[in-house]
Amino acid sequence: MPGIITIKKKIPKFNKTITVGGDKSISIRWVLFSSIANGVSKCQNLLKSEDVLATIDAVKKLGIKVKLNKNNCTVFGKGINGYNYKNNIIINAKNSGTLGRLILGLLINSSKSIKLIGDKSLSKRDFKRIADPLSKFGAKFQLKNNKTLPLKLLGSDKLSPIRYFEKRGSAQCKSAVIFAAMRTDGTTIIKAKKSRNHTELLSKYLNLPISIKSKKNFDEIKVEKIKHIKPLNYNIPSDISSGAFFIVLTSLINNSQLCIKNVNINPSRIGIIKILKQMGVRITFKNKKIYKGEKKADIQVKSPKTLKAINCPTKYNSGAIDEFLVIFLVAAKANGVSYFKDLAELNQKESPRLKWGAKILNLIGVKTVLRNDSIKIYGNPNLTINKKIIIKNYLKDHRVFMTSVIAALSFGGKWQIHDKDSIKTSFPNFLKTINDLNK
Ligand code: S3P
Repeated sequence: MPGIITIKKKIPKFNKTITVGGDKSISIRWVLFSSIANGVSKCQNLLKSEDVLATIDAVKKLGIKVKLNKNNCTVFGKGINGYNYKNNIIINAKNSGTLGRLILGLLINSSKSIKLIGDKSLSKRDFKRIADPLSKFGAKFQLKNNKTLPLKLLGSDKLSPIRYFEKRGSAQCKSAVIFAAMRTDGTTIIKAKKSRNHTELLSKYLNLPISIKSKKNFDEIKVEKIKHIKPLNYNIPSDISSGAFFIVLTSLINNSQLCIKNVNINPSRIGIIKILKQMGVRITFKNKKIYKGEKKADIQVKSPKTLKAINCPTKYNSGAIDEFLVIFLVAAKANGVSYFKDLAELNQKESPRLKWGAKILNLIGVKTVLRNDSIKIYGNPNLTINKKIIIKNYLKDHRVFMTSVIAALSFGGKWQIHDKDSIKTSFPNFLKTINDLNK
């Protein structure tokens, strides 16, 4: 049946080297920055997934020429004021929160009205969190029920800088405000709970007027108006959030080893490594390099003899925010009770993922205690599944699908997993990579 896969066998032990696709957050940011650069930007290893293709479609709609050839992309930027489009255009962010939120920052001074729409999943997500700070600059927003898509934006050419306290640890909110500040006279001051910092690193690399002071739990970011951005040639490193599924699979299959080549290991993204190391997984970085401000390395993983439960320190939360679903599978096999807390944001993702974590674990016979922002997982080192399990996620969340596949391959049972097409948003080669491990 289309869109459904069945898995009936665990994966045998493996010792392999793999690559995964380009980083999604960096791919989207590269397209957006290049779309306002003065001149032609080229990149290699762009992630060719639906979220990134939606970003390319969005900038094309704004009048920017883009050429895509396999994973090589060329964007013909026309400068910070180079967008050209009709009144009332519709931009479709599809499944991508990152596109939907970041692009609003870039359109903050639009004199034409813009409608932003998304798919069923994105249309359930909170856009008030972005409309609120962007309104303070002077733009006007109309949201459905004052909270969600579709939304209408009417920008302003009389923008005022703002002071903004980003408390959730949302890189999307922080980045949208940085983009808006780049279009605004004066200095915008952002105090932001730690979150991924690709926008800041790209801005620094491009010599844009941004300053960042790193405090213990927050960053203080100051941004001034920009006039000119040089084109940005970039070779995008691989996505640790895609690698995560294979890091976990290796952790769960005895006597296995894996090397994932050329992965972005930005300190704001490696929460999964810190968590799994604390649980006993042997992980090392080889061939470490710094590339245009970002760190990258080959990640070497060896399965441990035993997995320890974790009381997960909240300081790891933001760096592992997209990986918790699959990390919960490691806790399911650990010796003891694991506890993950302060994770209300997980229910704000493509689907309510904290709830999904509990649901998958309960289906495979693992006891959990679920609260609004926390989960306790009662691990079972001898976990094996003998029954039939069906996973249908009505919001087609790619990470729910991929986590279910990893559970099936790790613990056995007879699985029917729906919504295969969801992987197209972030990791189109996911199933092919699984097959490569089996060869
Ligand atoms: C992202 C930020 C995070 C993350 C998402 C990608 C980004 O979302 O979950 O997958 O590229 O900025 P929030 O900003 O909602 O935390």
